[in-house]
Amino acid sequence: MGGVSHFFFVSLQRKPTYTHQNSKMKLKIAVLAGDGIGPEIMEQGVNVMNAVCEKFGHEVSYKEALCGAHAIDEVGDPFPEETFQTCMEADAVLFASVGDPKFDNNPNAKVRPEQGLLAMRKKLGLFANIRPVTTFDCLVHKSPLKDELVRGADFICIRELTGGMYFGEKKEGTDVAYDTNYYTRKEVERILHVAYQYAKQRRNHVTVVDKANVLASSRLWRAVAQEVAQQYPEVTTDYMYVDNAAMRMIQEPKFFDVMVTENTFGDILTDEGSCITGSMGLLPSASTGEHTPVFEPIHGSWPQAKGLNIANPLAQILSVAMLFEYFNLNEEGALIRQAVNASLDQNVRTPEIQVEGGAKYGTREVGQWIVDYIKGN
Ligand code: IPM
Ligand code: MN
Repeated sequence: MGGVSHFFFVSLQRKPTYTHQNSKMKLKIAVLAGDGIGPEIMEQGVNVMNAVCEKFGHEVSYKEALCGAHAIDEVGDPFPEETFQTCMEADAVLFASVGDPKFDNNPNAKVRPEQGLLAMRKKLGLFANIRPVTTFDCLVHKSPLKDELVRGADFICIRELTGGMYFGEKKEGTDVAYDTNYYTRKEVERILHVAYQYAKQRRNHVTVVDKANVLASSRLWRAVAQEVAQQYPEVTTDYMYVDNAAMRMIQEPKFFDVMVTENTFGDILTDEGSCITGSMGLLPSASTGEHTPVFEPIHGSWPQAKGLNIANPLAQILSVAMLFEYFNLNEEGALIRQAVNASLDQNVRTPEIQVEGGAKYGTREVGQWIVDYIKGN
């Protein structure tokens, strides 16, 4: 089995628009399926969401909106105003993936699908990106790391998501170019508090990852972290340079409980983290902050697999679990996790994690199996 039984959300929780007295909820979901494999895995995520809502008596409605490359193709904007409004009016956003190779190899492209994702993060104030790295015992052999290093590894990376180089002042000339790693005390403080809140519900251990031996922005991070740490005496804090953290994650992933870091370092380290698990197709994430929260797989749009019914829908399905848990619907989340674990245990798996000689299941078949499990349990 493996994996946490359910995921705690702390401090940023908002309430859905309507809550009935008898804990039946009415959820309005914005669906941003995006590009590549996005629509296929989203379909399975929505099917699972429907099955759970039906079972627990929640009412759910969806509104689809354009985002990414196909939004550029259709309306010339990767995150159109209408999509923003749809997100703002929803209780939660279910997001799949954006990106298209026709933009990747063209450094002169004026607009890129990824800008849609960044605009969404900024406009919704999603400063806290929560990326759990959990392992599944039955998949440990898929990890490039040794069994004994991986088994039982369970940490979360809290990545700052609306600051740093991604959003600082930029210049893009032909001879000179720069990005500014701009951070304010307030931005650093609020993300650190999120990390400590999580640590208190877990193993009381925070690792602050920075490059304070070189970068001014990192020295601000570290100074603020030293202040904030004093407010959480029950939590052990350590400070680690990012290069060292990258190494430690591979040497001893079980060292970590809650890791907190700036936008760019968090981007890089969470790809590394996903590798520990063995498949990128397994990890969900949540982005929370000032407005509507967003739930999405950490993987990209894998355009080469589009339409082939081979993409793993589990990261999307587990993103739905995180969505329920965000609204304190922990039983709902737990049932999804149980279904996912059962599917893995019974080798109902997409090709990249299937055992040798095992039956072939596609995106749809895995999704359907999980829906049937939810209905029957
Ligand atoms: C991620 C992605 C994005 C990022 C890209 C697609 C802009 O890699 O969510 O990690 O760099 O943040
Ligand atoms: Mn990334």
